[in-house]
Amino acid sequence: MSNPNYPRHVAIIMDGNGRWAKKRMLPRAMGHKAGGDAVKRTVEAAGALGLECLTLYAFSSENWKRDEGEISDLMNLMRRFIEKELEAFLAEGLKLKIIGDYKAFAPDIVEKLEQALDRTSGGTRTLAVALNYGAQQEIARAARLAAEEGSIDPESIEKHLYTADLPPLDLLIRTSGEVRLSNFLLWQAAYAEMLFMDVLWPDFGEQHLREACETFAKRERRYGGR
Ligand code: FPP
Repeated sequence: MSNPNYPRHVAIIMDGNGRWAKKRMLPRAMGHKAGGDAVKRTVEAAGALGLECLTLYAFSSENWKRDEGEISDLMNLMRRFIEKELEAFLAEGLKLKIIGDYKAFAPDIVEKLEQALDRTSGGTRTLAVALNYGAQQEIARAARLAAEEGSIDPESIEKHLYTADLPPLDLLIRTSGEVRLSNFLLWQAAYAEMLFMDVLWPDFGEQHLREACETFAKRERRYGGR
């Protein structure tokens, strides 16, 4: 059951699918497919650990720079994932949320996503998926909306972030050993704990998420105070 010292909201930069495939001399698409299996395991683990919200960086606004074939592999994976996992999400009481400009995706994906948003709207825990997401774009958009209402300050900007209705971000994890934020949740990371884990995303599972929560539970957060 849920540990009171565990994070409420964990976000993950799922990195290392390509390297995982390369190590096995497999095509990159196989790395992404194995990454999809890790998503499923991690969503289940988040439930078992009692997390309120899990946010996953699935497609960044910069990922459009990848070659056409890889983008199309990722899109097909997303199509299949929604179709296959929707019932499981419903059974687990998960509410889907999308952060990012997902309407730029193909119309059939937008339609599937919107159906999934609609069907899971009664869920109690949240799975937030970042799709065509960039934190700088998110902040600029929020500032623009705040300006239209007449004031630009941290509170008015925060109110217009995609994450406004989610619990504050407690823990941000990046897998694969890379130590950067890559335009993910820059605003929300202001007071989040960060953990860079030396595991390639397709190898990530319940043990890693548990270990991350344990590490978080041991850290002392001061929010600028002493
Ligand atoms: C990073 O690996 C991962 C991504 C670009 C996207 C994340 C996508 C998935 C985990 C696939 C499944 C997602 C869903 C929601 C079905 P990389 O290709 O950058 O790896 P590399 O740095 O080793 O090349």
